[in-house]
Amino acid sequence: MRFKKQISVLSAAVAICCGSALATEASAPAAPASQPWMNAQLGAAERAGLAVGAMTLDEKLKLVYGYLGADMDAKKTKRPAEAHKQSAGFIYGVPRLGIPHLWETDAGVGVASQAGPDARPGTALPSGLNTAATWDLQTAYDGGAMIGAEARAYGFNVMLAGGVNLMREPRNGRNFEYGGEDPLLAGKMVGAQIKGIQSNRIVSTLKHFALNDQESGRTTLNVKIDDRSARMSDLLALQIANEDGNPGSVMCSYNRVNGVYGCESSYLLTEVLKQDWGFKGWVMSDWGAVHSTAPAANAGLDQQSGMPFDLSDYFGPPLKEAVLNGWVPQARLDDMARRILHAMFEHGVVDHPVAPAAHTIDFKAHAAVSKKDAQEGMVLLKNSAGVLPLNKAVKRVAVIGGYADKGVLAGGGSSLVYPAGGNAVPGLLPKTWPGPVMYYPSSPLKAIQQRLPKAMVAYNDGSDPAAAARLARESDVVVVFATQWTGEGFDMPNLALPDKQDVLIAAVAAANAKTVVVLETGGPVTMPWLAKVPAVLEAWYPGSEGGEAIAGVLFGEVNPSGHLPATFPASEAQLPRPALDGFPEVADRRFDVDYHEGAAVGYKWFDLKGLTPLFPFGHGLSYTEFSLSGLSAAVKDGVLQASFTVKNVGKVAGKEVAQVYVAPLGARWEAPRRLAGFQKVDVKPGAAVKATVTVDPRLLADYDSASKTWKVAKGDYKVILAADAAQAAEAAGSKAASTVVHLEAASYDVNGKPLRGAGR
Ligand code: BGC
Repeated sequence: MRFKKQISVLSAAVAICCGSALATEASAPAAPASQPWMNAQLGAAERAGLAVGAMTLDEKLKLVYGYLGADMDAKKTKRPAEAHKQSAGFIYGVPRLGIPHLWETDAGVGVASQAGPDARPGTALPSGLNTAATWDLQTAYDGGAMIGAEARAYGFNVMLAGGVNLMREPRNGRNFEYGGEDPLLAGKMVGAQIKGIQSNRIVSTLKHFALNDQESGRTTLNVKIDDRSARMSDLLALQIANEDGNPGSVMCSYNRVNGVYGCESSYLLTEVLKQDWGFKGWVMSDWGAVHSTAPAANAGLDQQSGMPFDLSDYFGPPLKEAVLNGWVPQARLDDMARRILHAMFEHGVVDHPVAPAAHTIDFKAHAAVSKKDAQEGMVLLKNSAGVLPLNKAVKRVAVIGGYADKGVLAGGGSSLVYPAGGNAVPGLLPKTWPGPVMYYPSSPLKAIQQRLPKAMVAYNDGSDPAAAARLARESDVVVVFATQWTGEGFDMPNLALPDKQDVLIAAVAAANAKTVVVLETGGPVTMPWLAKVPAVLEAWYPGSEGGEAIAGVLFGEVNPSGHLPATFPASEAQLPRPALDGFPEVADRRFDVDYHEGAAVGYKWFDLKGLTPLFPFGHGLSYTEFSLSGLSAAVKDGVLQASFTVKNVGKVAGKEVAQVYVAPLGARWEAPRRLAGFQKVDVKPGAAVKATVTVDPRLLADYDSASKTWKVAKGDYKVILAADAAQAAEAAGSKAASTVVHLEAASYDVNGKPLRGAGR
């Protein structure tokens, strides 16, 4: 509820991040003897301790109290003068002690702006789901490094990115911001992005902590789940992203978990995050997610964000009163301030202060990063009869629907990046929060026309299916664009494409058998017309360069290599909750969402129930063919490694995502199989590449809540090499192979580290 509101490429990524960072930072301050915490030779913990020791009570209190960085007409409040216009947040530092202010910007696809006349132009990455669909850590890192560089150049030192809410609910309006349904894939990809952002010496968040997997009733709903299932699903994704990304801050979520609000859950914030995972940074609240002073502070919330979003200034004067009366121990307030400072020292926020220098942004280079991400993550779902890639000798092409003449769709809400050049389709509803509905000015139609200078490329807006069908009939090939606008604060009522686009596609496909469907959707959709069309490309929200990116893939300049980070269900009836809880929303009504599926999320649920989806998790076609072979698996010192060969048996170069699944033959898991490792490999035609994946022991174990250990059961396990989750289920077919390994009983600590002795 808002007011309407492998390594070779690494050097290139580092060049992007650090080049921009160096260009826009003020020189590091010298450390006067009176300010020992400014000595960069000391560790972050020591520096934070020294700085807290020098702070007054009021200075500590300032550091834990955040403001919205924008004027809020509904509450008649103005942003602090020092905040950047139309920004997400601002926190006063302690200039007297050399501690800078915190300037916060959303979010995961680039530097976003709150609505208003002063939106800053930014480069938008494709949606987080698109980046997850790349299955390529380097791409995720590079995207993070790029948007982090823009954040720094605009004078922000905190980026509210790192969204990794597991996709339990394909109708969730914010799925486009996240990393899909598998904890390993989502955690790894988002962790890499966080690392990229923070390479700019700024802080990234990890959010939303935790189990905030639908938008309907997000501030009132109560998720019911047991500790074991949570640790093996949503929390595992967050845990992996935390380990790989080392974010400076974690944002707690709006929802309740087992009766307690995310931002006052000592279980989530203190036990899981700070004690079990050893998180050293600070927990900030989501905007409007705080409900108390002492309960929240004592549970582990370190900073209230975005005032005046909350009903009360809980961490303002009431916190001072609580500390002075001992309801919140002084030591706890010190810890809150120390955690914020720890992250600021650790990630370079103090030593490399931000200084706005937007003119240094290399928008051309950043556009290339966005385009590469988009093209690496688009998923070719279907391609029969060789319709794609499009033939350049074609004479008459029809491009239909989806505002393809103007641009490409973006997701709505706080993460919205405003493009240079403005909204390509202004005026669509809703114009205000969570709108505006934004189309980036990168037209697929124009990009197609440019590639076919001699052909007749005609556009029809698709509003009249009969007229669109007439154009389709007169054309050699048809590309029909379908869009689904999703965004923050609302869910989709169902998985169907909105605005009768299914009718349009069916009409066009009936008129011309050579119909290619390009989807720009927030997540999975149903496709009643699928059997009637030869080709479907899932282009997600493809970002600033979307039109070019789509055309490049349609014409085969780039071979598609995205694979689904989430199952596409055949219907809502296949979901753990066929009807969305709390939909339609009743304001302020508390309700339960029972995660009865436990850790069996996404493809695991489908496997468990023997359901056949429309498209399985991991699915993605290419313009070439691959064979996966030579699988061998070995266990050394309890560590499972699988090696295999990927051959390109087709005619063009391409990238395959080899997926390793593991199935217990004796033990019982939440589902028959889990993704245990993956590797994206680039293979020339006729060539073969060998790859090895090492399996995180948590993916071979069950979490035991009582002992806080991950326990591997002694027995045989099938290791399966596959190109998607459905193939893994069959464990056969031209691309799949399997082998059996024996694992001894073993125990790992809560972070998956081997425990000496016990069971090993
Ligand atoms: C969202 C957060 C976002 C914050 C600041 C909230 O509504 O849930 O993800 O970072 O606003 O804009």
